[in-house]
Amino acid sequence: MCGIIGYTGYRQAAEVLIEALRRLEYRGYDSAGVAILSPSLKIHKKKGELHQLQSSLPHIDGRVGVGHTRWATCGKPSNENAHPFLDCSGKIALVHNGIIENYMALKEGLQEEGHKFSSQTDTEVIVHLIEKFYQGDLHEAVKSALKEIKGTYAIAAVVQGSDEIVAARKENPLVIGVGVNENFVASDVTALLSYTNKVRHVMDGETVLVRPEGVRVFDSEGREVHREDTIITWSAEDAQKGGFPHFMLKEIFEEPQAIHNSLLGTLDIIENGEIVPNVQFSSIKIIACGSSYHAAMVGKYILEELGKIPVTLELASEYRYSPGAKEFPLVILISQSGETADTLAAAREARRRGCRTMGITNVIGSTLTREVDEVVYTRAGPEIGVAATKTFLTQLIALYIISIRIGFARRVLSHDAMWKALSELRKMPGVVQAVLDNAAEVEKTVELLVPARDIFFIGRNVNYPTMLEGALKLKEISYIHAEGFAAGELKHGPLALLDATTPVIAVAMRTDHTYEKMLANISEVAARESPVLSIGCDGDRELAAVSVNMIKVPCVSPLFSPIPVTVVLQLIAYYTAQKKGRSIDKPKNLAKSVTVE
Ligand code: M6R
Repeated sequence: MCGIIGYTGYRQAAEVLIEALRRLEYRGYDSAGVAILSPSLKIHKKKGELHQLQSSLPHIDGRVGVGHTRWATCGKPSNENAHPFLDCSGKIALVHNGIIENYMALKEGLQEEGHKFSSQTDTEVIVHLIEKFYQGDLHEAVKSALKEIKGTYAIAAVVQGSDEIVAARKENPLVIGVGVNENFVASDVTALLSYTNKVRHVMDGETVLVRPEGVRVFDSEGREVHREDTIITWSAEDAQKGGFPHFMLKEIFEEPQAIHNSLLGTLDIIENGEIVPNVQFSSIKIIACGSSYHAAMVGKYILEELGKIPVTLELASEYRYSPGAKEFPLVILISQSGETADTLAAAREARRRGCRTMGITNVIGSTLTREVDEVVYTRAGPEIGVAATKTFLTQLIALYIISIRIGFARRVLSHDAMWKALSELRKMPGVVQAVLDNAAEVEKTVELLVPARDIFFIGRNVNYPTMLEGALKLKEISYIHAEGFAAGELKHGPLALLDATTPVIAVAMRTDHTYEKMLANISEVAARESPVLSIGCDGDRELAAVSVNMIKVPCVSPLFSPIPVTVVLQLIAYYTAQKKGRSIDKPKNLAKSVTVE
């Protein structure tokens, strides 16, 4: 996720671009840059937060320009990898939000044709493609360039000698800001609200011509389309949250897109094995903290099932001080921030013990990426709420991909089984969307939880760790005491705590081989008069009959059920905390990255 802005009009473009980028900085802050027609193209870009660009920006007199604030997805944060990018002639400038999947092949072809590249980004290929097709008409050149590209984008481009901006979108947001004798394009309305509240939405596959005197929108066939203006009534802060009351809820609703981004290029990874080293290892150890540790616990089930390889788990804060048996597993370290001190210390310790290491993180250029041998990025985009939501789900996606790759490479997963697992994975954005479409029903069910002092979460098999994550999420933001248990463990102690005032949240997926056992555990709970809120397959009447309330999820194959179940648990935590009036995005005593041991 990055922020893009384009301006053409009568104001000083530099001022407009910087103000808009300030509003877009929540979308990424690895670097920022602007390109302004003055009248030749002047470009300024800098690694780091926007203020670093702003403090070094000379006066540039110009009324047309594009700007960018970056969340790195391809190429580390640096001055060279900052946008905008120029073509070889220095006359075309481009900003981009998205991921170009086939950039390596395109880059090789363009280099053979003589194009010179200055960065490691995927984006730079677009500006060279536009240059290749440019014959005096920027719109035509952009359209031709986009035909070559596989991936997702929102782009804005300018060419020297013209006051026109050409923009386009596919699976990344883009909105037009409509002014008087000035017009804008941006990643979202936040960027525009200081200048106009009149916007025109751009749909997937459309291209846009923006001039000071007007805007024209074209569909993917090149036909001009009429689009009504929409008047925005949000404040800038509301707009950053996309109209959601909290970042956490916005980030939960971004999960289908985040999963989609995580899945881009999956087949290449699995077939060409980019991410799993070709060295031999006969076991895997996964190390992490907090929610990332719960992802690791789910990962153990997935890796053992799809990769047929033994997996052990360690909390990062414990691993470092453990005796360290003479074994050499592949060590996978999971950290959304890539900056958690305990996980970094564990990464160093694993290497000291002679193990090959792999990091799974959401943040390009984070410290973890420099401490491990291989890195897998989750591509969830920036997560601002302290509670991990979309980053947790995309960690699971990364673990499914790694497991399929390992199973395939070890020849324990047949071609058919690989395709079956992949097709399940590809359903996940739609599955999560179906859960989100039912959010209002989830909200109703939390009335039962709001007055409770203690809440228990129970599950079995792959959904045992899912329920630990549900309990962590609830306690973290609602401050209600919540504990997760393997359902079979209740009878070994925790059952003593149950009574009519202790709600129990239980997951029982009809497709799972532990389903009958779960039903029996739920009946034991109900017999102690604890109200049961269950999560199960759509249409499961048996489960509904033993529950006070049942939340339905799409009935996916059992190994993939942590995905929809987690989304329900995140919504439960969110709505409970909201009804208790908690500080959801910044819960007390917690921080987004924990950089102390
Ligand atoms: O950045 P990391 O994934 O390494 O963070 C680990 C934990 O601090 C983190 O998952 C924490 O538990 C979350 N706030 C949970 O929502």
